[in-house]
Amino acid sequence: MNRDDFPILETGIIYFDNGATTMKPKCVVDKVVEYYTEYTSNAHRGDYDTSLRVDKEYESVRTKVKNLINAARDEEIVFTKGTTESLNTIVFGYMQKILKKNDEVLISKSEHASNVLPWMILKEKIGIEVKYVDLDENYAVTVENVKRAITDKTKVISLAHVTNVIGDIRDIVEIGKIAKENNILFVVDAAQSIGHVKIDVQKANIDFLGFSAHKMLGPTGIGVLYGKYELLNETDTLEYGGGMNAFFESDCSYELKEVPWKFEAGTQNIAGVIGMGRAIDYILKIGLDKIHEHELELKKYAVSELKKVPNIKIYNENTDSGIIAFNIDKVFSQDTAIFLNRFNICVRSGNHCAKILKDEIGITNTCRASFYVYNTKEEVDKLIEALKRQDEVYDNIV
Ligand code: ALA
Repeated sequence: MNRDDFPILETGIIYFDNGATTMKPKCVVDKVVEYYTEYTSNAHRGDYDTSLRVDKEYESVRTKVKNLINAARDEEIVFTKGTTESLNTIVFGYMQKILKKNDEVLISKSEHASNVLPWMILKEKIGIEVKYVDLDENYAVTVENVKRAITDKTKVISLAHVTNVIGDIRDIVEIGKIAKENNILFVVDAAQSIGHVKIDVQKANIDFLGFSAHKMLGPTGIGVLYGKYELLNETDTLEYGGGMNAFFESDCSYELKEVPWKFEAGTQNIAGVIGMGRAIDYILKIGLDKIHEHELELKKYAVSELKKVPNIKIYNENTDSGIIAFNIDKVFSQDTAIFLNRFNICVRSGNHCAKILKDEIGITNTCRASFYVYNTKEEVDKLIEALKRQDEVYDNIV
């Protein structure tokens, strides 16, 4: 884990907002620049050298993603704008066609908006029921609670692998097993787990999954929808246009391309795809086990040090990812974040798009520090030093 790979860190920034987006190593930036400076062309449209190079690079990333999540075939990997588009495609391109009134979809109250709102809209459209798995005393989803929440009407379980505020790592292998045994579709939001912990979509029997590249050292505006091949074949694309059709005629007959290309209408984020491929190489070179171990060590260290600071409440000390949600007692989370910014420390504050989590933790807004490969214990020490100066939070307010 070489901090020198991340030129932005030379500015002295202490970046603890990796749940929102991660820094980009120079090799990822260089790879994107290489595309723009050496072989800019469209994909799947040209018959000249640079265009053929684009096709090769672009499609090779599909294979890299397939290997990263152990999908069965390249065609199960669709490039999207990110997790949000992926989850919307799953809900409105597939679930809307197969679910019926009163069918139950099981989510949790700690999910991000992207794994809640589409289901709520689907409830409005076709009358499905949105049910919530009970969270345990650590606000985590347990396998036992998933089992307990399943009824004979449960048709879908849709859960984040790792949640973005509580940071609990769900046992997707066990949940996937239960889903399969009960003939339930299993959807996974991997936005916060991709690039942090290993995912094996076949082992976990995942039917659909989505993630974004920018949370795993890659560019913004690019992500992945994974679906089992037979399910993707039954999924409608949400966009129609160039590049995704086999033909269309003036009598309105048409044919769409095969999966996955039927989902990739219009000119794609080619630079993003290519940059994501480089980010995958970078992450795999370090190793996901090592990354997770490092984050967990930082989290444990930060929790033990935070406990020594007066007036700090931690909401998720017992979860196993590199995410800590906390507040200074009687201080609004955004005020804390603005205060920490004075020390060049970046944390996120607010509800973090997990707007119904408040029903469980009893508070709407928290500060969130989320760690990644380049963070260090020395940086955590600086956070602690700053929080010890909490009496100064309002000193500079004009
Ligand atoms: N979903 C991102 C976060 O949790 C933006 O911060």
